[in-house]
Amino acid sequence: MIEKKYILAFETSCDDTSVAIVDTNYKVYANTTSSQPIHNDFGGVVPELASRLHIKNITYLVDTAFKKSGLKISQIDAVAVSVNPGLIGSLLVGVSFAKSLAYSINRPLIAINHMIGHVNANKIENPNLKPPYLGLIVSGGHTEIVNFINEDEIEIIGKTRDDAAGEAFDKIAKLLDLGYPGGPIIDKLAKKGNPDFVKFPQAMNIKENYDFSFSGLKTSVRNYLKKNTEEFIKKNLTDIVASAQEAITEILVKKTINYAKKYKIKTIIVAGGVSANSSLREKISLESAKINCRVFFPPIEYCMDNAAMIGCAAVEKLFKNDFANLELNAFSTKGLKIL
Ligand code: KG4
Ligand code: ZN
Repeated sequence: MIEKKYILAFETSCDDTSVAIVDTNYKVYANTTSSQPIHNDFGGVVPELASRLHIKNITYLVDTAFKKSGLKISQIDAVAVSVNPGLIGSLLVGVSFAKSLAYSINRPLIAINHMIGHVNANKIENPNLKPPYLGLIVSGGHTEIVNFINEDEIEIIGKTRDDAAGEAFDKIAKLLDLGYPGGPIIDKLAKKGNPDFVKFPQAMNIKENYDFSFSGLKTSVRNYLKKNTEEFIKKNLTDIVASAQEAITEILVKKTINYAKKYKIKTIIVAGGVSANSSLREKISLESAKINCRVFFPPIEYCMDNAAMIGCAAVEKLFKNDFANLELNAFSTKGLKIL
């Protein structure tokens, strides 16, 4: 049996500062996250405020992670950090901190793509999960269908041409003054609503095309709200948000399942903040069962940004001695890339 090793992981790509300790069997010993409610006042993340709060919170979170885990810093075998994509100022806080820490304890540094981190959150409950599988990656900045051929090779099947699925939830919530992030709020409200109340458009609903577009949906919701009185909107709020959610989740599931059916995919994994969505989970579970395909989701608490997923993504790299050097830099470029 291979001896287990401990990874200290950092995630600061957006507005959550997160520090975790995981082992090479994907067991999470601590996952401490500090979110930044200050952005709620602005209806979106203010990058400069986010970076400053990462700086303020990160040391305390490291201390908390060690206290929670009962482990000592001398037991850490490697330090992992997300280096892209994300807000550059935010990423740089995590990368600089991780580099200094790895140097001071003389342990290897592992660079992780944030989106690959989201995918690896699936291993927390399913440590034996291995490619090939089809990924539906849905977050605040990304919407992609990705073929994971093996640990080192991926093929992008489709992606959004404008807004990401999470962004669509957030923008629709903003139009309705519901708060930020909009996804969890809409998800909760939609449970009491009728998803067939309004037929909002599903853009790019073209067979054998796996790209998405969600900016038209936002415009369509805006026009619908303009057309109706405040009283009507208030009275039918749960139905309106359930209908908007339906438009988003229907197209995500339709395209993923169409591809899985055509290419006889046996395993689908869903990842990213929107993978917490109850309607998406329900629909894709139902549809994948019809084509004899297994579907996996991360545990709800690991769907949104967290450092445990970054630690999990570092496990394979630790086994392969695939380390970064101390010149490691952060970069904001969007996309899914195995670094
Ligand atoms: O992956 P994530 O935490 O951050 C990025 O990497 O972007 O995803 C955040 C996104 C937000 O847009 C948020 O509204 C959405 O995930 N989200 C949800 C739910 N929980 C989070 N969207 C729909 N339903 C949810 N339950
Ligand atoms: Zn994320």
